[in-house]
Amino acid sequence: MLSAEPVESSLDQKLVQEIIELAGWAPFHLAASPVHRKRLTEASLVPWRFHVLPKQICLSLRQRLLDQGDRSKVPDMLAAADILIQATWCPDPDETGAALDEEFEFIPTVSNMEHIAATAAAVQNLLLAATARNISTYWSSGGPIRKREVASVLGIPADEVLLGSIFLFPEQENYAEVTVRPGKMREKRGAPAAWCRWITTLEE
Ligand SMILES: Cc1cc2nc3c(=O)[nH]c(=O)nc-3n(C[C@H](O)[C@H](O)[C@H](O)COP(=O)(O)O)c2cc1C
Repeated sequence: MLSAEPVESSLDQKLVQEIIELAGWAPFHLAASPVHRKRLTEASLVPWRFHVLPKQICLSLRQRLLDQGDRSKVPDMLAAADILIQATWCPDPDETGAALDEEFEFIPTVSNMEHIAATAAAVQNLLLAATARNISTYWSSGGPIRKREVASVLGIPADEVLLGSIFLFPEQENYAEVTVRPGKMREKRGAPAAWCRWITTLEE
């Protein structure tokens, strides 16, 4: 959802906390590295982190982007949203100690793949829990809010990698004018037969 002007908030923070709690029941296989775990105030092994921006912070971030001349749709999404969750995952540190740049954010290991998979499962749980409560959601790659500079102003450690900017939107009645754009590829996913095969024999 997009809005040129800030939309009145209607989401109850307790409800948001409830869906975050449900998201946290995602499966995970491997513990996050101690590098990441030592920053937590409570013990947890999970490889994902959710950084939750309430309405006021969404609006401050929107203003910051507008002041920087941002022309993407993200300021309009931030104006429409009640909550933004910057969902990151915790890559294992590079054994060589080499610094990773912004383009190449992690080493392609199976462990890192599994950290990403677990984080994606947590995000999908969040989307399902929100949808079941009639809260509209949107999973974005982040565009301008992927930048390290934004992570830094939000207090997100530089070695976490953003998997998704997850927007939660208020009820549609709150919008003076609402634009809802469905996903571009929604109707192009094909039937299961296009991407799923049943194995009936073993190859020799
Ligand atoms: C990892 C990931 C990143 C995405 N990033 C974007 C994005 O940056 N911009 C975008 O328009 N859609 C993005 N999408 C797709 C939207 O989330 C999706 O189109 C939207 O949820 C609506 O889907 P639907 O209408 O098929 O339910 C992304 C999806 C995933 C899984």
